[in-house]
Amino acid sequence: MPFKKTNSRASNNRIGRFSAGAIGVSVIVGLIVIGVNYFQTDAGVLYTVHQGLKIERVERSGPTAFWVAPAQEPALADGKLLYGTFCASCHGAKMEGQPNWRSRMANGRLPAPPHNITGHTWHHPDAQLLSMIKDGFVPGVTAPIGYESNMPAFGAALSDIQIKTILAYIKTYWPDDALDAQREISLQ
Ligand code: HEC
Repeated sequence: MPFKKTNSRASNNRIGRFSAGAIGVSVIVGLIVIGVNYFQTDAGVLYTVHQGLKIERVERSGPTAFWVAPAQEPALADGKLLYGTFCASCHGAKMEGQPNWRSRMANGRLPAPPHNITGHTWHHPDAQLLSMIKDGFVPGVTAPIGYESNMPAFGAALSDIQIKTILAYIKTYWPDDALDAQREISLQ
């Protein structure tokens, strides 16, 4: 009965294709849910996107170089809330910094600089920004020996991913050319 045989084989193949497809889709959905969906951009740059937070990184023998892209929702709302709670009192609700931020105060310390294009946050690679925010300005590491600063250390209050979410929010204030330049120094 050639007709029946062909028919049953065709239906088995359909089921086989369906299961393989279903397994493939579940694996992809699973990876997206747990946030390990790596994609490749330009040569050697991998990136993950999870909840509107896109992080690019370059694998190498030293510490991993990374760059956080400007936040999209829902990371944008998270970053805004975290920034408003932990940073805005000094750096300004709109990244404007404290008045006369270039001049030292009576105690010799500097006021909080702006995080928008008029400041110099965007001159630093992300790994350095993460370290300054986690540990504050550590004399001999991220500041000269004996340096005193009003910038607190947030390593006990905020996780790395929360700090990266704040950076992603701050970057929504940067123009494209500053983003490009800061991405380049971050991924070096
Ligand atoms: C109590 C005030 C205060 C708070 C709160 C604060 N900062 Fe700062 N921050 C400063 C001051 C002051 C400086 C400049 C320090 C210096 O140069 O001595 C600074 C510097 C920085 C720099 C370095 C900028 C550069 O151009 O070198 C970064 C990045 C930074 N802060 C991020 C943050 C983030 C993110 C938060 C919130 C999680 C935060 N700060 C909260 C006072 C503060």
